[in-house]
Amino acid sequence: MWVLCIGALVIICITHWVYRWKNPRCNGKLPPGSMGFPLLGETLQFFSPNTSSDIPPFIKKRMKRYGPIFKTNLVGRPVVVSTDPDLNYFIFQQEGHLFQSWYPDTFTEIFGRQNVGSLHGFMYKYLKNMVLNLFGPESLKKMVPQIEQAATRRLQQWSNQNSVELKEATASMIFDLTAKKLISYDQNNSSENLRQNFVAFIQGLISFPLDIPGTAYHKCLQGRKRAMNMLKNLLQERRENTKKQQSDFFDFVLEELQKEGTILTEAIALDLMFVLLFASFETTSLAITLAVKFLSDHPLVLSQLREEHESIVKQRENPDSGLTWKEYKSMTFTFQFISETVRLANIVPGIFRRALRDIQFKDYTIPAGWAVMVCPPAVHLNPAKYEDPLAFNPSRWKGMESNGASKHFMAFGGGMRFCVGTDFTKVQMAVFLHCLVTKYRWDAIRGGNILRTPGLQFPNGFHVQIMENETRKDGKDI
Ligand code: HEM
Repeated sequence: MWVLCIGALVIICITHWVYRWKNPRCNGKLPPGSMGFPLLGETLQFFSPNTSSDIPPFIKKRMKRYGPIFKTNLVGRPVVVSTDPDLNYFIFQQEGHLFQSWYPDTFTEIFGRQNVGSLHGFMYKYLKNMVLNLFGPESLKKMVPQIEQAATRRLQQWSNQNSVELKEATASMIFDLTAKKLISYDQNNSSENLRQNFVAFIQGLISFPLDIPGTAYHKCLQGRKRAMNMLKNLLQERRENTKKQQSDFFDFVLEELQKEGTILTEAIALDLMFVLLFASFETTSLAITLAVKFLSDHPLVLSQLREEHESIVKQRENPDSGLTWKEYKSMTFTFQFISETVRLANIVPGIFRRALRDIQFKDYTIPAGWAVMVCPPAVHLNPAKYEDPLAFNPSRWKGMESNGASKHFMAFGGGMRFCVGTDFTKVQMAVFLHCLVTKYRWDAIRGGNILRTPGLQFPNGFHVQIMENETRKDGKDI
């Protein structure tokens, strides 16, 4: 009898729990949508790999069924997904008021609980200023020659090889550059390979938080542990051998840490270093690889780009003098090309926030505590805004050159949390493209196909053969 009673009670509890899972409480009207299976939600469908350049099938299907705003459950969290430009705009504008930056636990465990994306208020502003100092225009102006040298040296090396895997090669180039700028790290003088620890990050970042050997999440956590140990040791070494003159970000951090009443802690500084190292090389190398792929597939765009860069060289007194900031700023078509590349790349497939209180938007209520996911691909591939949205057409940006975000362009986010690395990425892309198209030709050999899980990947890499242009004495290509 007792057993029957307990059995019935358990069944009632489970049924109630499943009912609540499917019908969450809300002081208003929730957006339409399905919360999926208990515990799993719709996580597996969301991560299911696809090879489309279009709006991810998971999103597209639900937009058709439910409209531009719908609910779901991902990695154990109820989420409202927004493909609505007005709601996206509202979310970005309300950062810190109605919404707050929030990322799934996998992110916080991997990037550190005190990473810049998880900090708010005063501490966040302080860190953001630090980063803007590091990657702002004044600093970037000084970096142009270093970026040009790095690109020239790498391209020279690659042109001596039969085949180069571009994603890996550009990732290594950018990592070396950023690591030098941040911590004066030089792979050639180190017994340990710092970058090795960041491999497999993209797969692990938004993944199921299962920390057991073999999972992408586990690999990421192990990589983080090793990288953080290395960074800690490097910072300690620097502390013991303080330089007279501040030369990199480490010196700056040490100086800040010594200031009386500073709000910076070593843990926060190390988390920031870790995020910057990762964010800088992984995203930009994907963008450069896709850019070169687009150029291979669109010879007319390539000749237009080449024309712009050759004309910059021709206008110089000395064709071998390095790129200047003024020349960089004059690359009108290149900026259109970069905007079009990142529009279609959709490197960041979802931007996450958390509702700080019940929020009313149009007919719907977003309950306090729920996550919201802004979906940039749905905005960037909207035919109402971008004619023939899947076509690669840099000229669609003519006359629309802007450095910021808009309701219809959010590759680098929007509002207060707009990506602090945007200009750094653009300089790196533009300078690399300048060196590539003025001095080299290339043939695509193999790979180049994309996979989204939903983050962008090149599962087989993109293998190219790079050849130096043979030039005649009058400077024209043969
Ligand atoms: C193609 C290249 C890049 C893309 C597509 C990209 C995209 C984004 C996006 C969409 C956000 C907004 C996230 C949010 O609102 O929650 C963001 C933020 C951020 N990005 Fe980038 N990014 C790129 C390059 C970089 C680089 C090179 C750096 C490093 C210097 C960087 C560092 C950051 C940081 C630290 C944040 C957090 C800012 C904050 O919370 O205020 N990004 N990025």
